[in-house]
Amino acid sequence: MTDNADLAALIRTIPDYPKPGILFRDVSTLLLDGEGFRKTIDRIAAMVATDTQLIAGIEARGFIVAAGLSYALGLGKLMLRKPGKLPGEKIGIDYQLEYGTDRIELHKGQVTAGQKVVLVDDLIATGGTALAGIELIRQAGGIVEQALFIVDLPELGGAEKLRAAGVEPTALIG
Ligand code: PRP
Ligand code: HPA
Repeated sequence: MTDNADLAALIRTIPDYPKPGILFRDVSTLLLDGEGFRKTIDRIAAMVATDTQLIAGIEARGFIVAAGLSYALGLGKLMLRKPGKLPGEKIGIDYQLEYGTDRIELHKGQVTAGQKVVLVDDLIATGGTALAGIELIRQAGGIVEQALFIVDLPELGGAEKLRAAGVEPTALIG
């Protein structure tokens, strides 16, 4: 993997957030740095498989990564949204977080059968969120074989779970 120590230095770690014992990697400090964000998107964009047809981002921080990649690569982006946000007909899935439970949804018809979709988010921890996104896109008929992140917390095992689900995860940091 490329040495992304320059980007890692822009991410701060806050202990005991949102619960005691959790070391929270806060990407808001990286996002504040224009050059750092540009490098982040450029480096992730270089890893996106060339046959990719759609970028799927998970609300909320994943949208920032998805928007950058979508612009850089000229690909459309699919919003995987938290509950109660999508006005149209939708499908959804519940999942476990490192610190709670949540649900994501997508609009029916916004992924076409056989479409090659890359899932992106700012960070993978337990992998629950990314796996739920992959499952949902697959339910909609999309093909997901690659997932890209700014940060992986490998000690939480998320990347391994994605590999077991047939998806190759790559992160700039971790
Ligand atoms: C964070 C992060 C990932 C997810 C990673 O999002 O942006 O989506 O948690 O955790 P996991 O691998 O254990 O599932 P969060 O749910 O805090 O939402 P946000 O983007 O709206 O802040
Ligand atoms: N940082 C940001 N988001 C997260 C983290 C973290 O350390 N763990 C789970 N989601």
